Amino acid sequence: MLTPLIVIVTLAFIGIIFIPVGLAALSASKQVVEVVHRYDMDCIPDQFQNDKVAFIQSSATNKSCTATLTVPKQMKGPIHIYYQLDNFYQNHRRYVKSRNDKQLKSKTSESETSNCAPEATTSDGSAIVPCGLIAWSLFNDTYSFASNSKVVEVNKKDIAWPSDKDHKFGSDVYPKNFQMGGLIGGGKLNASIPLSQQEDLIVWMRTAALPKFRKLYGRIEADLEANEQVTVTIQNHYNTYSFEGEKTLVLSTATWIGGQNNFLGTAYLIVGSLCLVLAICFMVLYMLKPRTLGDPSYLSWKRNPDGHY
Ligand SMILES: *[C@@H]1O[C@H](CO)[C@@H](O)[C@H](O)[C@H]1NC(C)=O
Repeated sequence: MLTPLIVIVTLAFIGIIFIPVGLAALSASKQVVEVVHRYDMDCIPDQFQNDKVAFIQSSATNKSCTATLTVPKQMKGPIHIYYQLDNFYQNHRRYVKSRNDKQLKSKTSESETSNCAPEATTSDGSAIVPCGLIAWSLFNDTYSFASNSKVVEVNKKDIAWPSDKDHKFGSDVYPKNFQMGGLIGGGKLNASIPLSQQEDLIVWMRTAALPKFRKLYGRIEADLEANEQVTVTIQNHYNTYSFEGEKTLVLSTATWIGGQNNFLGTAYLIVGSLCLVLAICFMVLYMLKPRTLGDPSYLSWKRNPDGHY
């Protein structure tokens, strides 16, 4: 029964649990060190500033570009490298559906290309593997890092979910006819590596829910020290210029809540304090004006003086 005492104790208990959890999550999020560098504008040479699309589409231009990042605080490895795209709607209904999960999974379904149009088959009718717009638009910028003129190694292993590698992308499915059409949408794939090991593709094909998203590119296993200058060489290939997208490189450490994220801690704090405030209100109300409760024994059978029930 929801008696006042039970309600007050429950609310107070939720408040007492949630507020420390919220504080812990916020402090963990605060400890995350992030370096964020937007590069899509800087990586266009001055003479192409008025025609960025021409620069990115030309095969004659030099797409290589360097940037220097300053590490604000010591960063303990593993440091996660993300690329962040903005104004890129991976959640568009026709884009999300433009893949064929059967084809990705097994070699026997190689010719399955339903849902994949307009990237289903080549002009002579043979199936594209992996088919569809998601795979076709694979992100293809690359980054390499150096510090004190020494290369900083990037580990690109295990950036995709193990469940995706084991259950969604086949180890006997090899890319075929990929990116051979007239219009190249993005990265190419090495045709001698099975899809289950093409981790960049697997990461890319786990479509983002919002138009601004980050995807894992790799990890730096070493530590970076405070004030260290890291030089990034960016191969700026991916065309986000024709739809006013933005490209950003992010280096981030991680804690038990993952990367920087104040939402979780704030949500816990708000819910916890609401419960605590309600518990206090109810308690004060209950002490000032206790409500007379019904007498449950009134409901039970009683023998009347005349001997009947
Ligand atoms: C990278 O993707 C763009 C499209 O965004 C494409 O035009 C270009 O050819 C691709 N380059 C490489 C090296 O894959």
